Amino acid sequence: MSAVNAGKFIEEMTQAKGEWQSFLEKLRDTGKTIIAVEHDLEAVAFSDRLMVLEGGKPVAYLELRQVAFSYPRKMKPALTGINLNFEKEEITAITGPNGCGKTTLTKLMIGVLQATEGEIYLAGCPLTDYSLAEIGSKIGYVFQKPDLLLFCSTVAEEIGFGLTNRGRGCNPETVQKRIKFYLDYFELTGYRNDFPLHLSQGEKERLAIAAVLANEPEFLILDEPTIGLDAYRKKLLENYLKKIARLGRGMILVSHDAPFVNRLAERVVTMADGRIQGCNERKGNDGYEA
Ligand SMILES: Nc1ncnc2c1ncn2[C@@H]1O[C@H](COP(=O)(O)OP(=O)(O)OP(=O)(O)O)[C@@H](O)[C@H]1O
Ligand SMILES: [Mg+2]
Repeated sequence: MSAVNAGKFIEEMTQAKGEWQSFLEKLRDTGKTIIAVEHDLEAVAFSDRLMVLEGGKPVAYLELRQVAFSYPRKMKPALTGINLNFEKEEITAITGPNGCGKTTLTKLMIGVLQATEGEIYLAGCPLTDYSLAEIGSKIGYVFQKPDLLLFCSTVAEEIGFGLTNRGRGCNPETVQKRIKFYLDYFELTGYRNDFPLHLSQGEKERLAIAAVLANEPEFLILDEPTIGLDAYRKKLLENYLKKIARLGRGMILVSHDAPFVNRLAERVVTMADGRIQGCNERKGNDGYEA
C-alpha cells in the first residue's frame, strides 16, 4: 500500500469510527443499554462506565489485600487484616468511632503511609509502582484538617495551584475559567485576593475542598468534608459531589455525618478498632443512585 493510500485508508477508518460512535451515542440517548467490548479507549469515550477485566475478573480501581499498618513505637497496630475493593464510579462511605483507623486507611491509599503488611493496587498495579505525584494526579485527597495545608498567598492562587503546577500545566485560560467557577460555586469570590489563612474556619474548609475539586481528579477521597460547614454549604457540597458522581467519578467519604452519608453513599463500610466490621450495600436502596 502506498503512503497516499495508507493515509486515505486511515482517514476512511477514522470517519467510519466517528459515524459508529455517533450511532451508538444516539442509540444510548433513546434509553438503550449498550455493552461495548473494545481495546480502543477513545472509541468508547461516550460510555458511562468502564470495566477493565483481568484473568476473567473486573479489576477494582483500588484494592486492599490483607493490609495491616502500625505506627512506629506503637504496640497495637492501627489497622489489621483489611480486605477492601473500591470501584471507580462508586461512592463509598467509611464510618466508625474516633481512632478506629479511618484516616490511617485513606492515607495508605494515597501512599502517604506505607502498609506494614499486605498489598494495595491502584487500577490493577501495585501502589508502590506509582510516584506520589502520579497517585496525586489520579486521586484528589481532602485532608481531615485541610486548612493546615493551605499555603498560597491568595485564595484564587490556592484554587489554581494544582492546575498550573503538579505537571498538569493547563493553559492560562482554562486555569482562569476554573478558578472563577470554583470561587463562585463555593462562594469565595469576595475573598479571591485574600490571604487563605485569614479566612474563617468554614471558608478555609470550602477553599481546601474547592482547590482539590478544581483539579478534577478521576477519584476523590474526602476525610470528614462536612466538618465546619453550615447546612446550606453542606447541601452545596452534596449537590456538587452528586453531579461529579453522575459523570462517573467515584469517591470515598470518611464521615461521622450519618445524614450526609445516607444521602450520598452507595456502600457504607463500618470500621472498629482497626478492622472492617461490616459493609452495607445501599444500591437500589435509599442510597444515592448515580
Ligand atoms: N501519627 C501518628 N502516630 C502514632 N499514632 C497515630 C498517628 N496517627 C494516628 N494514630 C493512632 O492510630 C489510630 C487510628 O487513628 P486515625 O486517625 O486513623 O483514626 P480515625 O478513625 O480517623 O479517627 P477520627 O474519627 O478521630 O478522625 C488511633 O489510635 C491514633 O491514636
Ligand atoms: Mg480521622
